[in-house]
Amino acid sequence: MSLQTLVRKAAKIIGDSNYVVVFTGAGISAEAGIPTFRGAQGLWTKYRPEELATPKAFKKNPKKVWEWYVWRLEIILRSKPTLAHRIIAELERRGIVKVIITQNVDELHQDAGSRRVIELHGSIRRARCTKCSYKTKLMEIPREIPPHCPKCGALLRPDVVWFGEEVPRVAFEESMREASICDSMIIIGTSGVVFPAAYIPIIAKSKGAILIEINPSRSALTSYVDIHIGTEASKALKAIYLELKSLGIINDRD
Ligand code: OAD
Ligand code: ZN
Repeated sequence: MSLQTLVRKAAKIIGDSNYVVVFTGAGISAEAGIPTFRGAQGLWTKYRPEELATPKAFKKNPKKVWEWYVWRLEIILRSKPTLAHRIIAELERRGIVKVIITQNVDELHQDAGSRRVIELHGSIRRARCTKCSYKTKLMEIPREIPPHCPKCGALLRPDVVWFGEEVPRVAFEESMREASICDSMIIIGTSGVVFPAAYIPIIAKSKGAILIEINPSRSALTSYVDIHIGTEASKALKAIYLELKSLGIINDRD
């Protein structure tokens, strides 16, 4: 099927839905210059997750783990939301998209103006205390590495989910609820191999939602989806947006 046919079908599904949920992964931020995890250029080809993104690694060498997060934070603080992030925010503003469930830790959805964002894996732009309830935004790189808690003096850690840790329960339960009520879900830029996040589209499908995937490659979720648009996030979303306009689902007066 040609790209245009797939885009037309996707726009029609979105237009027919009362409740659209967006589910994103690192691929949506690739065009912003933020490295993904898997694939030829992915972080996990250069780094070993178990040496950097686990509670054990942090315990053994908090400085090394923080240095890696600081490197990523520097990239993220410099980056801007992509056209894909901005189109999703616009679709939310127009009441078409109801919520964005993301595995990303870069907060680019929020920067683009999205309001309902469920963060399944936390945010690299926050740190929290390993002992008390102190939490802080990281608007810049911490001066001391590893940073310590201003309240109790214990080590601060990135407010992200590491391998072997549970995803935040409230965020996961809310995502499951959203997945079970949506009419369609747009899955963008995820390999779909990290659980429990990858259950979310599967639950949506089992509850009757139509799945649209945007990813230049096939993913572990591709066999579940109804439409696979094999191109970059910004290109695909721009085409869908234009199609929604020509179908009259979006008009410039709103
Ligand atoms: P991955 O790095 O596993 O997958 C990125 C996906 O994005 C791949 O399927 C690419 O084909 C696709 N992609 C690349 N460029 C794209 C573009 N321009 N437009 C659309 N798609 C594109 O990233 P995630 O699936 O997000 O977890 O990874 C899931 C989790 O694994 C992450 O949240 C992180 C990681 O370990 C934790 O840190 C807990
Ligand atoms: Zn503390």
